[in-house]
Amino acid sequence: MLDIQTSLAQPHVTRRADYTPPDWQVPDIALNFDLDPAATRITATLHVQRSGVHDRPLRLDGAGQTLLSVSVDGTPVNDWVIEGGALILPLSGSAHVIETTVEIAPERNTQLMGLYASGGNLCTQCEAEGFRRITFFPDRPDVLSRYQVRMSADKQRYPVLLANGDPIASGDLDDGRHWAEWHDPFPKPCYLFALVAGDLAVNRGSFITMSGREVALGIWVRATDLERTHHALDALKTAMAWDERVYGREYDLDVFNIVAVDDFNFGAMENKGLNVFNSRYILADPDTATDYDYDAIAAVVAHEYFHNWSGNRVTCRDWFQLSLKEGFTVYRDQCFSADQGSAAVKRIEDVRGLRAAQFPEDAGPLAHPIRPDAYQEISNFYTATIYNKGAEIIRMLATILGATAFRTGTDLYFDRFDGTAATCEDFVASLEEASGTDLTQFRRWYGQAGTPRVTASLLHHEGSGRAELVLAQRTPPTPGQDSKTPVVLPLRVKLFGAQTAGTVAPEHVILLSDAEQRIVFEGVTERPILSINRGFSAPAIIETDRSAADLAFLGAHDDDPFARYEALQQLMLDTLVAAAGGNQADHAAVIAAVAGTIGDAKLDRAFAAEAVLLPSESFIGDQMAVVDPEAIFRVREALRRDIGRALTSEWCAAYDAAQAIGGYVYSPEAKGLRRMRAVALGYIAASGAADSGDLAFAQFEAADNMTDRLSALTTLVAGDAAQRTPALDIFYNRYSDNALVLDKWFSVQAMAPRDDTGDVVRELLRHQDFTLSNPNRARALIGAFGVNQRAFNVTDGSGYRFLADQLIALDTLNPQTAAKLIPPLGRWGRFDAARGALMRAELERIVKVPGLSKDMFEQASRSLEG
Ligand code: TRP
Ligand code: ZN
Repeated sequence: MLDIQTSLAQPHVTRRADYTPPDWQVPDIALNFDLDPAATRITATLHVQRSGVHDRPLRLDGAGQTLLSVSVDGTPVNDWVIEGGALILPLSGSAHVIETTVEIAPERNTQLMGLYASGGNLCTQCEAEGFRRITFFPDRPDVLSRYQVRMSADKQRYPVLLANGDPIASGDLDDGRHWAEWHDPFPKPCYLFALVAGDLAVNRGSFITMSGREVALGIWVRATDLERTHHALDALKTAMAWDERVYGREYDLDVFNIVAVDDFNFGAMENKGLNVFNSRYILADPDTATDYDYDAIAAVVAHEYFHNWSGNRVTCRDWFQLSLKEGFTVYRDQCFSADQGSAAVKRIEDVRGLRAAQFPEDAGPLAHPIRPDAYQEISNFYTATIYNKGAEIIRMLATILGATAFRTGTDLYFDRFDGTAATCEDFVASLEEASGTDLTQFRRWYGQAGTPRVTASLLHHEGSGRAELVLAQRTPPTPGQDSKTPVVLPLRVKLFGAQTAGTVAPEHVILLSDAEQRIVFEGVTERPILSINRGFSAPAIIETDRSAADLAFLGAHDDDPFARYEALQQLMLDTLVAAAGGNQADHAAVIAAVAGTIGDAKLDRAFAAEAVLLPSESFIGDQMAVVDPEAIFRVREALRRDIGRALTSEWCAAYDAAQAIGGYVYSPEAKGLRRMRAVALGYIAASGAADSGDLAFAQFEAADNMTDRLSALTTLVAGDAAQRTPALDIFYNRYSDNALVLDKWFSVQAMAPRDDTGDVVRELLRHQDFTLSNPNRARALIGAFGVNQRAFNVTDGSGYRFLADQLIALDTLNPQTAAKLIPPLGRWGRFDAARGALMRAELERIVKVPGLSKDMFEQASRSLEG
């Protein structure tokens, strides 16, 4: 137990087990906003109804507003009290009309929760508990209301007034102000409320739904960004059609609007009929956005759109059910993206993301199940576990049930829970009932944290023609969960023949549900090679005893692209982990496998490019008992250099082949060629070729798109070529008025694999374009540095001190964004004692800061306990 816990007030903990239904419902609400950045007045009229038989008062959450008046059924009252920000009001009857008037100052809202100002416009962010910062209301997702919203504002400054639902009426007022009224017919929890007032231009589109209704689409941005909205609008239409085709889900309002804002704590928000986006997930043109950005935009647009059913029409009963909407919706957007291009590359990217963010979370002090049991601050639980592991859990359900039964199950779920606030259990029970599959044991995934480890060994008895697959699973302990029970793991398995390369056992799904299981294969006449967890069918760490030769075989022959990628990664990882541990490492097998992959003309270039990339430094570290960042960096660079040198002519050929694209096009094929060119350039530079600086700079200058320009810049920034500084300056000057591209300029320097990265980052803090108050910018520099394993973990602890200093400063402005950047400091248990002590010292310094937010307190104190 920490001593700081005794010296500070005990933080309030919310527990899942304590859930009780609301005492009062609010079927209808009317809101009147008198908008002004310095002083906005909000009058809220709540039609409240007592729920069940009780004599408890009405409790309306609130935070930070000035309360001007309260009335009940039209009569001013003063028998209320404020308790911890909430307004407590005794009521005698079963139904009343409550009216409150409050005042808030959006321009002083640096937390970006509630109503705030961004780029001269006003906008809202209410999930999870931001609505209480706007007006007094039961701020919990199981209180669903029909909203009528009226806004008035200065017409010149805020010509556009948007809210949820449909526009009803608008008009001018005499004092230079105007007004608009919007009604949303669908009952919704207050976290889905939104309004936007601003000077915005619109890219309009239209979509005809499957039942023939026309929906008016609008993407709202500042006028100079209008040309960068086409990709997002296309993605929206594609997503709307996809949800009809794949899930039978049709859009339900006459309008669907998206607004892009520059200051945003997260990626985007699915407010009913009025999604609000971080501008980085809307704005794109070839000159400013990479292929990766284009893909991310389509994925996030689809994600927020899909929430209209998985999140809005069926919402969450309480915040412990967050993965009900997020895990399912991430799964839906992943499948959508897989359908737009290379499904194999999409799966590789998703698994890479899971391993980079979620596996470490699940193995560290902040580990929690996808349905947590307790939280201090719910914002801290918008995690890779809830989102990405949550998506893997849904994917496993789809695998176990099969596509048809899965769809029957989701139909039943949407049908049965439409218009209600549901639980994860409701979802699983729907799938169970619709498919007739017993999911009792599967439910353990919802309550148990930690990444299962599966060992798999394949024994072959030559004489009998019998092979035996011995599987065992174990989930290591996580904070608060010392002992684990076996989970259900659907493992896609196939056996190949070592001699013929043919199929010895066709692909099928093994359900591993016991601690140990043996599967027997008959008629196996040649030595079988195991291909397991194909497509990454279960979110587990698989340990096999496959030799380098067998991995190379699979890397060349496996017909499941993910398994083929995985075999190559495992081969590389085995080599690198051995080398980092001080063992003699032979690079020949990896070099041969890489040569075979780039030389395989049948392979899609996008796939080949991903398959020849070495595992990241942090992923290598995750395989080691004690992470040695210097050794990892050294052996990885050595292998990169050797692959670069041994295959010089192959890389040059791959580079030149990729030149053949011609002018910029955004297509899966062109993306693959650009990706291959970037990877080849990286290897050419790693080889130490004298002209690699010239090659990179030529690409940098000639590029007609950001993908090529940024990959060239990244290569130059990593090395010491004479063109390094000029390229950084040219890039800066060319894009100095584009915030999203400047974020890349900061990040590429913070992520650089260089000795001076720490100094450069400290210097960049003082750059005129650096600010902590914009979350994208803060993440671009501070967040990127925190995941640069070698630079962040320098032995003198200066990286840790830097991060702690910045997070303490950021916490005073924006606790939610600050708290999300804590995890690099929580890895103290993974490093040597000296580094570990330095990290802990910084966490201890953070928790003792007077006035620290509860967001940061929870993240830092849990990081110390783990
Ligand atoms: N529901 C949003 C999504 O996943 C997440 C989100 C947007 C959010 N803004 C936030 C979460 C602010 C916490 C705080 O699409
Ligand atoms: Zn979401």
